[in-house]
Amino acid sequence: MCRDSPLVFRVGAGENDQDLTMSKKYRIATIPGDGTGPEVVAEGVKALKAVSRKCQIDLEFTEYGLGGDLYLREGVLLSDGVLEELRAMDAILLGAIGHPDVKPGILETQILLALRFKLDLYINLRPVTLFPGVDASLKDKGPGDIDFVIVRENTEGVYAGGGGFLKKGTPDEVAIQESINTRKGVERCIRYAFDFCRRRNRDKRLTLCAKTNVLVYESDLWERTFHEVHREYPDIDTNYMHVDALCMWMIKNPEQFDVVVTGNMFGDIITDIGAIIQGGLGIAAGGNINPEGVAMFEPIGGSAPKYAGKNIINPLATICAAQMMLDHLEEPEAASVLQEAIKKVVKNDLKSLEAGNMGHSTQEVGDLVAGYVG
Ligand code: IPM
Ligand code: MG
Repeated sequence: MCRDSPLVFRVGAGENDQDLTMSKKYRIATIPGDGTGPEVVAEGVKALKAVSRKCQIDLEFTEYGLGGDLYLREGVLLSDGVLEELRAMDAILLGAIGHPDVKPGILETQILLALRFKLDLYINLRPVTLFPGVDASLKDKGPGDIDFVIVRENTEGVYAGGGGFLKKGTPDEVAIQESINTRKGVERCIRYAFDFCRRRNRDKRLTLCAKTNVLVYESDLWERTFHEVHREYPDIDTNYMHVDALCMWMIKNPEQFDVVVTGNMFGDIITDIGAIIQGGLGIAAGGNINPEGVAMFEPIGGSAPKYAGKNIINPLATICAAQMMLDHLEEPEAASVLQEAIKKVVKNDLKSLEAGNMGHSTQEVGDLVAGYVG
């Protein structure tokens, strides 16, 4: 498949395209990536094709073979040409980046983080929703109790990569890792979170997660900006939590959260807690969004090389990412059709959300979702 160049092939929405009077057309890039990425993206595309037939949306897929194999073969990570093609897409569906034969840090920073930074995907939107029928890891918590969204800043903080070594490799070595927080970057993230909270229209409560008792510069900027932007959203209630306390409350009383906004590093950590309390990496999805440009949707889990090629990984996280994509493309009906299909599979068909224990193969789970889409 992905042999000669990052740009491989284009396919239409399905065999029946010509029979449909399509209303809208979207250009979707897929980046299957490494490990189990190609297997789960195939099922994500299968689900999207089913929805495109059902809801008469025309989706044109273009696959990009970025990832560890391409890097090992050709030394190519993310070329400017591919970046510009991706920028022109309506949305991107990513599988996973991370290869056992490539030192950690190369592919992640120069493909995944490079995409986030260079496409200015400054919001990382991570819903934490426990679907009915999922064996919850939190005792006594049901679907109504775990239903919130984390808005993670996605282009700054320690992820910006500032820092360096002094006297590396000597007993006097100094390692500095800087957290870069710009007023513009913080403000646009916080404003997005307020807007999102208003649109979500659930409890209309936005929680700021930071660490004002220690990070007296960065968290101070976040807190000041949060209060200033809040003046524009008098209909939204706000509160503040230190990140360590928030980790505790996510486990103890997750029902108190509606929307949480936070910086990049804390967002990375708390969204893994979010993933596990909603049923694990088999179901957790996220969107990397530039509200004024393109957006990239992905399962939160990694490339899971030990499961690769075995047809046992859970594709639902990727299918949930596809569902978020439809929502982002302002196709609410299509998004809702897909979400209902996911919920049915979870409730009626899967023994567990864990790889290897689903009672179905990866491809069968995709078939079940497509079947419920109808
Ligand atoms: C995530 C991942 C990435 C991150 C890694 C793979 C660089 O953990 O999307 O949460 O830290 O953002
Ligand atoms: Mg993470």
